[in-house]
Amino acid sequence: MPFFQPPVSPPSSGIDLSGQTAVVTGATAGIGLEISRQLILYKVSNLIMAVRNTSKGQTVRESLLSDPAVNAGNSNVTIKVMELDTENYASVERFVSAYQLTFQDLHLLMANAGIGTAAKESASSGHEMDIQVNYLSNVLLTLALLPMLESTASKTNKPARVTWTGSRMYEKTSLAKKLPLQKGEGLLKHLNTAEGISMLQRYGDSKLFCVLFQLELAKHYHPDKVIINSFCPGLVNTGMTDGLPFYMRIPTNVMKALTARSPKQAGWIALNAAVVTGVETRRWRSRPNSLRARRDRRYRRCCGMRRLTKWREW
Ligand SMILES: NC(=O)c1ccc[n+]([C@@H]2O[C@H](COP(=O)([O-])OP(=O)(O)OC[C@H]3O[C@@H](n4cnc5c(N)ncnc54)[C@H](OP(=O)(O)O)[C@@H]3O)[C@@H](O)[C@H]2O)c1
Repeated sequence: MPFFQPPVSPPSSGIDLSGQTAVVTGATAGIGLEISRQLILYKVSNLIMAVRNTSKGQTVRESLLSDPAVNAGNSNVTIKVMELDTENYASVERFVSAYQLTFQDLHLLMANAGIGTAAKESASSGHEMDIQVNYLSNVLLTLALLPMLESTASKTNKPARVTWTGSRMYEKTSLAKKLPLQKGEGLLKHLNTAEGISMLQRYGDSKLFCVLFQLELAKHYHPDKVIINSFCPGLVNTGMTDGLPFYMRIPTNVMKALTARSPKQAGWIALNAAVVTGVETRRWRSRPNSLRARRDRRYRRCCGMRRLTKWREW
């Protein structure tokens, strides 16, 4: 990616999401908050903020509802805050059950919640935290909501949409370099336990898994009902790097000051991926020769889509 990021512009005008229901994960801050705001401005009818901290979610909901632009543009929007912590599978399952009980339709899922930690931390599943939060739970969430997305698509005669917030940091890591796996050792287990793998690469690893998953999914799942894609917003001025150790925060903050996009610009990129582009984006599009994922074929098999309907880790 060039040091100075190319300019971006708002999605084409004429987007009207009236009558649609959208779920945004990680809607309390940064890019997710801006995606929520822009969806409202494009007249989405129901917005579900899927957040890990519901009291923070309620505060953000109030601030959105009192935003003059929202009031002028879409005063009829219904905003609901629901609990979803992508740190654990049980929370994802609870969210999906609660959603299915409350809503009949889902037109758009924005799987945006994410973290970039430098510390070694495990999720309750035992998996490394970045991989759980950024990748594994998003796979479960997407697959569990797929039947409702499909039924909505059938009713409306228009594909439903799933868009993940990705990151080009996936290009900075290589799963292949983490070889060899021990005999009988699964890749996820290897990443949970392996010594000597830089924690700094875990964020990139988690986003690489996301790309690999979507590439594999595209081979098995025809997008006539649901279009699933990802986007990279570039470097964005959000609080995501606030938890990094200070020696990493200093260069990051300098980079952010010089080149970062605003959350608003990131929201434009997100909305473009989610409601403007079409089926051509169902695979991650990048410079073809730089797509490390294509080289990591062995790992594409490891995180390949074997079953769409039944969740199981492999
Ligand atoms: N900022 C960048 O430069 C950049 C670049 C490329 C990609 N991205 C991606 O953009 C996405 C959003 O990041 P951001 O920059 O907007 O960061 P952010 O400002 O830190 O926002 C992250 C959001 O995710 C939520 N979240 C974190 N862990 C969660 C969990 N376990 N369960 C549910 N929600 C959780 C946070 O909730 P709380 O408010 O409760 O903390 C917050 O709403 C991430 O997927 C990130 O990887 C960011």
